[in-house]
Amino acid sequence: YVIGVDLGTSAVKVLLINQNGRVCLEVSRSYPLIQEKAGYSEQNPEHWVEKTEEALTELVQQFDDDVEKIEGISYSGQMHGLVLLNRDKNVLRNAILWNDTRTTRQCEKMNEWVGNKKLLDITKNPALEGFTLPKMLWVKEYEPEIYQQADVFLLPKDYLRFRMTNTIHMDYSDAAGTLLLNVGDKEWSQDICEQVGVHKSLCPPLIESHECVGRLTEAFAQRTGLSKKTKVFAGGADNACGAIGSGIISTGKTMCSMGTSGVLLSYEESKTLDFEGKVHYFNHAKKNAYYTMGVTLAAGYSLTWFKDTFAADEDFASLLRDMDQVPIGANGLLFTPYIAGERTPHADANIRGSFIGVSSHHERKHFVRSVLEGITFSLAESVEIFRDNGKKVDTIVSIGGGAKNEVWLQMQADIFDAEIVKLSSEQGPGMGAGMLAAYGAGWYSSLEECTDVFLEVANRYYPQRENVKKYQKLFRLYKQVYNQTQELNE
Ligand code: XUL
Repeated sequence: YVIGVDLGTSAVKVLLINQNGRVCLEVSRSYPLIQEKAGYSEQNPEHWVEKTEEALTELVQQFDDDVEKIEGISYSGQMHGLVLLNRDKNVLRNAILWNDTRTTRQCEKMNEWVGNKKLLDITKNPALEGFTLPKMLWVKEYEPEIYQQADVFLLPKDYLRFRMTNTIHMDYSDAAGTLLLNVGDKEWSQDICEQVGVHKSLCPPLIESHECVGRLTEAFAQRTGLSKKTKVFAGGADNACGAIGSGIISTGKTMCSMGTSGVLLSYEESKTLDFEGKVHYFNHAKKNAYYTMGVTLAAGYSLTWFKDTFAADEDFASLLRDMDQVPIGANGLLFTPYIAGERTPHADANIRGSFIGVSSHHERKHFVRSVLEGITFSLAESVEIFRDNGKKVDTIVSIGGGAKNEVWLQMQADIFDAEIVKLSSEQGPGMGAGMLAAYGAGWYSSLEECTDVFLEVANRYYPQRENVKKYQKLFRLYKQVYNQTQELNE
């Protein structure tokens, strides 16, 4: 067996996966977002550790075999979140997360100090609020007494791994999202550190995602019931792990992932393509490979927001139950999911969302359908960027929340105008983490071999011409809304 730990934004999920790649047990625990001001989004790293420990303890309790048979654990983590530790390895402040957008000023300064072109040359990405370095610069500027005590910075799953193993590392796929890594050369950039005034010694040692960092500490093993012989593997960024867990490990493969954020991701063999920063370009969790992706900040988050605000007592299944009774276009209702700003294609932290075309005949179900359509349109803008850059996007593997609902799966096929593949498990990131552990533990000689055993197609959804046409018309309208609502601010 192996365990995949998926440290997400709303919850941690732990999966026990057997040698045939089947998920035998799954335990999840949620934790809160701390949002003190508009644009702020933080979490207490201690919550990640506590909740992971609880989830693993419960998993071990449900496990009816010998724990020594659990050979490896690995991780998938929400990206970009800044965790600062002092010399004694204590956390200095709450983690500032990927969806925190307070750092517009720091991004502007980075462009001034480093220059957009150089930043793109070295990191392959532009300065965006969500990435880690602007968050470091924010702490340096507004909380200098905390910054001065910082000895090392980590990303969320690296901190969790540290607490489970007492070792400090960061893997390339997650390091790529910091804006401090030379993505092509796979080393921390002295140049960027100097230009922004961040000491390179704050950067942790780098490691490949499938590499073993050591074993669980005796204390952690004892508290959870796991064996201290279990090997721990570095793991990767959630989107990189999602890509592994959905088989996006060769050229021409594309994934759509609906978590709190939404992601359209494409495998890249080469580190020298130029997308001019329009899509993110990161190191993969597969060694010496890359991926490009577009991000919708509030995908699942838009739906969660809607549910919590208008249907707090219901679960998602009942909220989505009537979706097939609402026609395409939700009888003239259009939603833009910019409730927390938007990344691709607008890179605008201040834009806010909208419902347009509201009629007295609309019921809640129309709103729900328009939320799903708006989220999917937003990701279709990323598909469009890929196609405009000459990529073929014919088949897309769908994972996460979007793969749990039949109507949404067909909607993706129709809006993206591509075949949508649903796998037997929609747990891409957790599955990918498990695959990194299985490969790292030597079960397979390559990730490709592991994919053949672990991943299985459950269903395929094909674009329906009539639907595609209807959505194309709506998509043209959707794309105009951004400019028209830009001046509406909170
Ligand atoms: C990617 C991003 C999000 C997080 C979600 O750049 O910010 O997809 O990884 O966990």
